[in-house]
Amino acid sequence: MKAYARLYQAVFRLILPRMPWRQPELIKGEGSVASIGTTVKAYGVDRALLVSDPGLVRLGFVDQVREHLEKANVRVVVYDKTQANPTIDQIEEALLLYREGSCQGIVALGGGSPMDLAKAVGARIAMPNKTIPQLKGILKIKHNLPPLFAIPTTAGTGSEVTVAAVVTDSKTKEKYAISDLHLIPILAIHDPSLTVGLPPHITATTGMDALTHAVEAYLNHTSMPVTNQESEEAVQLIFRSLLKAYENGNDIRAREDMQKAAFLAGAAFTKAYVGYVHGLAHQLGGFYGIPHGLANAVILPIVLDYYGDKVEKKLARLADVASLSTPTMSQKEKADAFKSAIKEMNRKMNIPQTLEGIKEEDLEILVKRALEEVNPAYPVPVILNGKQLLELYHHVMKASSQ
Ligand SMILES: NC(=O)c1ccc[n+]([C@@H]2O[C@H](COP(=O)([O-])OP(=O)(O)OC[C@H]3O[C@@H](n4cnc5c(N)ncnc54)[C@H](O)[C@@H]3O)[C@@H](O)[C@H]2O)c1
Ligand SMILES: [Fe+2]
Repeated sequence: MKAYARLYQAVFRLILPRMPWRQPELIKGEGSVASIGTTVKAYGVDRALLVSDPGLVRLGFVDQVREHLEKANVRVVVYDKTQANPTIDQIEEALLLYREGSCQGIVALGGGSPMDLAKAVGARIAMPNKTIPQLKGILKIKHNLPPLFAIPTTAGTGSEVTVAAVVTDSKTKEKYAISDLHLIPILAIHDPSLTVGLPPHITATTGMDALTHAVEAYLNHTSMPVTNQESEEAVQLIFRSLLKAYENGNDIRAREDMQKAAFLAGAAFTKAYVGYVHGLAHQLGGFYGIPHGLANAVILPIVLDYYGDKVEKKLARLADVASLSTPTMSQKEKADAFKSAIKEMNRKMNIPQTLEGIKEEDLEILVKRALEEVNPAYPVPVILNGKQLLELYHHVMKASSQ
């Protein structure tokens, strides 16, 4: 199995740097969300589907964006029911609205959930004869999506720059990604003022999702100079600003840093992939609805400890990058400092060390699905087997059920 996985990954390692990567056009700055109307219009879209979620309706953001669009004479149809871990049923519901409204483009407003739902709607429009389960996996989309504009309101997933749309099948509780270059949005708006109201807990967990992207991409065999640079810069920004954003939501500089970090980490993992932290976390999202960032935040230090000295060299470099080391430290001491700093940051942001709600009787299927997701697709630093993933899930569970 290991030899096959490494061979499969070696092929991708050759192909990945040569793929036609692109990034969304980026509009940045406080108040920049106001430009969404003229921007969408400039792309020739007169009728747009606005995808968001109930939390953003309550905050007034959906009305605000709708007004900007309408002011520019863009007719708007709203789908605002996206839930965390968006489902296939919701994608179909939004697709219907898109078609009924004869829309020509999609505006995603929110965190990873609305952005991914919007991407999946776009995928269905590009490939009308394929269902979402048929689009699961990589490179299944053969045509362009309608213009897709992303306005992230969390700083974590980096979905505005990635090839992925992560969706959940509510019937089978499977959570999986559709990954294709066509899913990269055409444009993204980074307006830090949209994130100042993010509650501390969501700031913390989504920020740790970004850190997980940066670290997993860095440790993978597919990391390359460009992704290493993106990961390192993201790690630096996160260690500089995540706690600040957590402690003072109004710190606009810290919010800007986190938006940039999430984007860079997304840019890194979209080319170099994620690893076991995500593989384990996705199943917990699909099965129990555990928020993605929270699952990653808890699992990241557990998996890094499990990898042991196999990842020491790279973690030591990240310790240097995050200014957590001193010149006299050994490589091991530096790597330990990096892992300790993650645990310390989690502790300061009230992120628990274990997750509640995972049932012993579900572990077999959780492990099976995590294995299917990761092996052989993700070029992880250490290839683990089912027994080892089971052990990891036990570490993630409450002490009482271990
Ligand atoms: N496509 C990708 O590349 C990618 C990468 C990582 C994760 N994901 C997926 O993204 C999803 C998670 O996204 P997320 O972590 O951004 O969370 P989310 O989109 O699920 O949002 C979480 C909560 O935060 C609220 N919220 C969002 N912005 C807010 C703001 N500015 N102020 C106050 N509340 C706000 C929302 O209303 C919601 O209740 C998961 O499904 C995950 O698997 C996708
Ligand atoms: Fe993630």
